[in-house]
Amino acid sequence: MKIVRYVSLMQRTSQALQRRKRTLGLVPTMGALHGGHLSLIRRARRENDRVVVSIFVNPLQFGPREDFKRYPKPLARDRSLCSRERVDFLFLPTGHEMVPPGFGSHVEVEGLSDVLCGEFRPGHFRGVATIVLKLLEIARPSRAYFGEKDFQQLTIVRRMASDFNLPVRIIGCPTVREADGLALSSRNAYLDATERAQAPLLHQALSLGARMARRGRAGVEIRRRMREALGPIRDGRIEYARIVDPTTLRETKRPRPGDRVIAAIRIGRTRLIDNVAV
Ligand code: PAJ
Repeated sequence: MKIVRYVSLMQRTSQALQRRKRTLGLVPTMGALHGGHLSLIRRARRENDRVVVSIFVNPLQFGPREDFKRYPKPLARDRSLCSRERVDFLFLPTGHEMVPPGFGSHVEVEGLSDVLCGEFRPGHFRGVATIVLKLLEIARPSRAYFGEKDFQQLTIVRRMASDFNLPVRIIGCPTVREADGLALSSRNAYLDATERAQAPLLHQALSLGARMARRGRAGVEIRRRMREALGPIRDGRIEYARIVDPTTLRETKRPRPGDRVIAAIRIGRTRLIDNVAV
C-alpha cells in the first residue's frame, strides 16, 4: 500500500491509472475506521482494479462547538486496517493543502442541505459537499463509495455529482450495525455505559416506523409513535424523527416503499443519526 500525502501525487497517480484504463474506487473517510468503513472498502475492492481510501478530518464540516478538536485519530491502526483490506493507495492530504489560507469556494446543494441534520448543523453539508467535490476532482475515481448510514450526505453527494456532471458513479452501501441494531459510528465511542445501553432504541424506533409505514399508516402518526418510542431515553433529546422522500428529503404524508425513516437524537453530549428504508 502506497501512502500519498500530496495532492499533486494523487492527481498524477490517478492520471496514470486512467491512461492504462484501470478503474479506481474511492472511499472518502475521516479515519477512525470501523466495520462500516471496511464494508465500503471491501465493496470498492470487489468492483475496481485499484482502491484509494482517503482520510481527512475535514474542518469545513464541523461547527464551532463540535468535536473537530477531539475527533479520534488512530492513524497507525487505520493504516494497518487498510493494508489488510488490500487498499492500493491511502490518501492523507494535509489541512494546509485541502483548505489553504484564503480558501473561499464552496458548494451549496440547495434544498437538501438545510433540512434534517442541516437545521441543527448549519454549514455542515456545505463543508461536506465542498471537500467531497475536491476529493473527487483530485482522485478522479470511476466509482466513489458512501454509506447509507449518512443518508442525507449520500443524497447530497448524488445531487452534486449529477448537477456538475461529474464522471463518477456514486455507490450507496448498506448500514453496518452492532448485534443490537446500533449503527457503527466513530462517535459511539463517546457513549458511557448507560448511554450505550439506551442507544439501540434509535434503531428500534426507526424499525417501528418502517413497519407502520408498510402497513399504510400516515406520516404524522408514525412520527408521533417514534417520538414515544424514543421517550424513555434518559438525558435524550430528539432533533427530528420522520419519513422522507429519498431524493427530495421532504417529509412524506403517505409513505411509499423506498421512502426513508430517518432520525437524529442526542444522548447526553453525543449526537446519533440513523435511518432505514420503508
Ligand atoms: P466518515 O464519518 O468517516 O464516514 C466515511 C464513510 O463511511 C461515509 O460514507 C459513511 O456514510 C460511511 N459509514 C459510516 N458508518 C457506517 C456504517 N455503520 N455503515 C456503513 N457505512 C458507514 O462521512 C464522512 O466521514 C465525511 O463526511 C466524508 C464523506 C469523508 C467527507 O468529509
